[in-house]
Amino acid sequence: MARKEILEVIRKRASIRAYDKSKKVSKEQIEAILEAARLAPSARNTQPWVFYVAESDEAKAKVMNAMSEHNAWANEASVLLVVCADLRNVYRLEAKKYYVDIGLCLENILLEIVNQGLAACPCAAFDKETLARSLQLPEYLEPVIIVPIGYEAKGKLLGELREKYGEVVERKAHKLGGTKSLEEIIFKWE
Ligand SMILES: Cc1cc2nc3c(=O)[nH]c(=O)nc-3n(C[C@H](O)[C@H](O)[C@H](O)COP(=O)(O)O)c2cc1C
Repeated sequence: MARKEILEVIRKRASIRAYDKSKKVSKEQIEAILEAARLAPSARNTQPWVFYVAESDEAKAKVMNAMSEHNAWANEASVLLVVCADLRNVYRLEAKKYYVDIGLCLENILLEIVNQGLAACPCAAFDKETLARSLQLPEYLEPVIIVPIGYEAKGKLLGELREKYGEVVERKAHKLGGTKSLEEIIFKWE
């Protein structure tokens, strides 16, 4: 893939919180997303990620049971992907370096979701203990992030804003002050 195309996917990614319930994400699409996840780099190549794919209404209800009420919109997603860390297999558990691994894995997931023409929004606002209990996770699996995945419901929720401010509104709508400029994020370049 050309450099420009990668940047285009990165630019296109945005947190989408409204999904078209009538359109299901296919098994092949989920597999492609997990393939992207699988290939992420990790400290000492520990690959500490483990996934719970909630696709049935029953499984999704178990995940939503732990979700913050602010994330109730996630119930409309076709799939709820729970990204867990396997604590038996992380580099320097006490230093919490594995959150970097899971973060890198998450970005691969989010970019492949865009590549598949799908929409998502990572969710950290959930109760870990409730989720672990609800999904009967073994004690060595820590649920770190939930990724609701679906087809974007165009015009829903953000439709009005998009009309007003243009296409990049999803990126701005949930940000305080929008995307930071390059000047703002470089501490020193010498
Ligand atoms: C680790 C993490 C946790 C997040 N948790 C939530 C969440 O619980 N609910 C939500 O609506 N958005 C959540 N977000 C989405 C952010 O609000 C969003 O990424 C940010 O506002 C930037 O917008 P953009 O993704 O459209 O560029 C989370 C993002 C990250 C990276």
